Amino acid sequence: MSAPPPARPEVKIREATLADVDALIGLLVEVAGEGRWIATEPPVDVERRRRRKVDDVESADAIVLVAEAGGELVGELGLRLARYGVAELGMAVAAGWRGRGVGSALLAEGIDRARAAGAHKIDLQVWPHNTAAIGLYERFGFEREGYLRRHYRRRSGELWDAVVMGLRLD
Ligand SMILES: CC(C)(COP(=O)(O)OP(=O)(O)OC[C@H]1O[C@@H](n2cnc3c(N)ncnc32)[C@H](O)[C@@H]1OP(=O)(O)O)[C@@H](O)C(=O)NCCC(=O)NCCS
Repeated sequence: MSAPPPARPEVKIREATLADVDALIGLLVEVAGEGRWIATEPPVDVERRRRRKVDDVESADAIVLVAEAGGELVGELGLRLARYGVAELGMAVAAGWRGRGVGSALLAEGIDRARAAGAHKIDLQVWPHNTAAIGLYERFGFEREGYLRRHYRRRSGELWDAVVMGLRLD
C-alpha cells in the first residue's frame, strides 16, 4: 500500500495588494514560460508588466484576486471592467497546484465580484487546445460565443485560433 499524499495547505482567495505584485509577475513569467496556455510569451517585459499590475491593483476598474496557500501565491484571477459593462477575465494557477480546485475557487469568487461591481457579462478568450480552461469555464456556465481563426501571431510565426467565451450575469 502506498503512503497517502502529503497534506496540502488550505487555499485562501483574497484581493491582491501591492505586496503581491512581485509574486504575481513571477507567476506570469512561469506560466508564459510554459508557452501554450496564455497569450503572453517569453521573454516577458517584466517592468512593463509590473507597472500594469500596480495599475490594476490600484484601479477601481479592475479586480485582482489571488489564491494563497501556506503563505505562497498559487493562483491569480484578473478582471478588467469596461465602461460598457463587460468584465474581461484572465487567470492562471501555478503548474504544481492545478487540478485541485484552486481555479474553481478563484472563478467562483471572480464571478461574484464582477456581478457586485455591476458587470452584466464576463468575457474571455482561450486557445482551442486549452481543454482544462474551457472545461472549467463551461462548468461555470460560460458559453462559446465566437471563434477567431488564425488570429494571434505567436513569436514562432504561427497563427493561433482563439475561442471567445462569455458568461451573462444579468
Ligand atoms: C485553467 C486553470 C486556471 C484551471 O485551474 P485549476 O486549478 O486546475 O482548476 P480546478 O482544479 O478548479 O478544475 C476545475 C475544472 O477544470 C477542468 N479541468 C481542470 N484540469 C483539467 C484537465 N487537465 N483536463 C480537462 N479539464 C480540466 C475540469 O472541468 C475541472 O472540473 P473537475 O474538478 O470537476 O474535473 C489552470 O489549468 C491553469 O492555470 N492553466 C494554465 C493557465 C491558463 O490556461 N489560464 C487560462 C487561460 S484562458
